[in-house]
Amino acid sequence: MPDPLALVPLPQSVVWSDGTWETSAPWEGLSVGLNDALPATEYALSISPTGAALSAGSEAALADGRNTFAQIVTGTNGSIPCVTISDRPKHAWRGMHLDVSRHFLPPAEIETLIDAMALHRLNVLHLHLTDDQGWRIEIKGYPRLTEVGAWREQSLVGHMGEDEESWTFDGVPHGGSYTQEELAGLVEYARRRGIMIVPEVDLPGHMQAAISAYPELGNFPEQQLGVREVWGISDHVLGVSDTVFDFLRDVLTQVADLFPAPYVHIGGDECPRAEWERSPAARSRMNEWGLTRVSEIQGRFTQFAADVLAEKGKRVIAWDEVLESHLPDDTVIMNWRHGNGVKDSTSRGFRTIIANNEHTYFDHYQASPKDEPLAIGGLTTVKDVYTAKFSPHKLSEDQQTLIMGIQGQLWTEYMPTAEQVQYMAFPRMCALAERAWGSPEQSWEEFEERLRAHLPRLDAFGIRYRPLD
Ligand code: ACM
Repeated sequence: MPDPLALVPLPQSVVWSDGTWETSAPWEGLSVGLNDALPATEYALSISPTGAALSAGSEAALADGRNTFAQIVTGTNGSIPCVTISDRPKHAWRGMHLDVSRHFLPPAEIETLIDAMALHRLNVLHLHLTDDQGWRIEIKGYPRLTEVGAWREQSLVGHMGEDEESWTFDGVPHGGSYTQEELAGLVEYARRRGIMIVPEVDLPGHMQAAISAYPELGNFPEQQLGVREVWGISDHVLGVSDTVFDFLRDVLTQVADLFPAPYVHIGGDECPRAEWERSPAARSRMNEWGLTRVSEIQGRFTQFAADVLAEKGKRVIAWDEVLESHLPDDTVIMNWRHGNGVKDSTSRGFRTIIANNEHTYFDHYQASPKDEPLAIGGLTTVKDVYTAKFSPHKLSEDQQTLIMGIQGQLWTEYMPTAEQVQYMAFPRMCALAERAWGSPEQSWEEFEERLRAHLPRLDAFGIRYRPLD
């Protein structure tokens, strides 16, 4: 029979049957239970005229099943079509990244995004909590990180042209931060919906906000910086003193205690070496460490963070630049720069998450810039996401098994409000979720039609999105 309801992501097996379940309280009529006979990642959902039953091989799979049920009941009005669904994800990591540094997003808005992620059976929220333009997480013992580092005096207006003379600013202070209690609340909110929050503390670059709060964290402590007001990459990176490593130990320890996820993301992207080249202190540290190349300093940071986190039973995730210097074998690589990187990191034996800026950067325009709100650049349509070839090279079976999953990115330089974040996320996130889930392959035309029928659910959740063409 034709599909009475559109489901996104499409489950692995969906068999609709005649009849409906008439109910005004579907959640009360859903029976739920673990079933040891099912594989850990699998759930089975059946709806008959007399009720609904969900069973699964694990709590995580139960959450997936509940989230599919949520789609079904959000798409119906008291009359639910009968169906038998058997389903499991292809990838363990089905992620969305959210940059709350470039623009602060209140916890309630993060919860709305978590609701929408759950609806699409995404299971990881990667929170980018620190950057040059704002430090957003309370760290006990370092009050200035949020008193000073969470606020910038103003923000660049429009694109960041080459010519500094052309830059204009809004003159409006921007900032905000999360207490540890608020973050613990978000962790629990997400957990109840089947989502793990993975925190990122970006190091040793992207640290200007922290260095503004505590100049002794920089390479030139006599220099008082401000929290960065323009985008792009700051030259101001962490220094190499004992003070800096003590700071990192404190930060990573508190972060590890706050977030139960088995991973902490330590950034590692875009770390200019100019300050280390100029700093006598960095030179003498290199001698002490027996390093000959300045680029190897970053490897020291990666290893230090990994050691601190290992004591807490956690593993490091980092952006793919960390492959250029020393790193522990169990580092998980988040590939962002080029599709070729997936082959490089997996051929070296590293577990890898696909997050490439060709297909998964939702700060890019989603249609012609002349018809769209200002974005950072690029063009990534929802069709591009749905049809993406995530690795341009064929991977061996061993390499395939190292792919943990796929993640979309929301860098928020040009997303000052929750509405704008939603507009940029949707509907591309729906296509990403379908790819990360590994739904049976369909034509773009089939997906587009199913997505069109699915979008009213986003309306029901109060989510803004770019309409389909
Ligand atoms: C990145 O886009 N700098 C990871």
